[in-house]
Amino acid sequence: MKISKEMTAAINDQIKAEYDSAYIYLGMSAWFESEGLSGMAHWMRKQYGEEIEHTEKFIKYLYERGARVIIPGVDKPKESYASALEVFQTAYKHEQYVTERIYKLVDQALAEKDYATQSMLKWYVDEQVEEESSAEAIVSKLECLGDSKQALYMLDKELGGR
Ligand code: FEO
Repeated sequence: MKISKEMTAAINDQIKAEYDSAYIYLGMSAWFESEGLSGMAHWMRKQYGEEIEHTEKFIKYLYERGARVIIPGVDKPKESYASALEVFQTAYKHEQYVTERIYKLVDQALAEKDYATQSMLKWYVDEQVEEESSAEAIVSKLECLGDSKQALYMLDKELGGR
């Protein structure tokens, strides 16, 4: 069964959202480097890599369905942040936004009775649980640190092990 034009367009749109996510994290990584927090910078670069994988998974799926992939332009990410806490809060909110987008894709696949797309999206539904949870866990840790520079550098070291 052929994938619909509407579903193809929605997945292409999500490909852009995943590339934008990758760039948001790459921008966060650059900010952490400029702040001397190389562990957090490393964590964000890993996250960037994951987003590229998410993108490529969607691209491969569209090819498998014989659909046209449109390689999008990417939005310029934010350059600076007030604190490490603000960065991870932003990342957490961003992941919640991505989850909403994935759920909308699931809704559309259900409405179209596109079982193949529903099945493919299950991986993303599960992945989003992990994505939200890892960002939220770091937000909680940063909230506990308060203004302690020493604790911040210890957390930085921990996140460098990702
Ligand atoms: Fe591709 Fe972090 O969602």
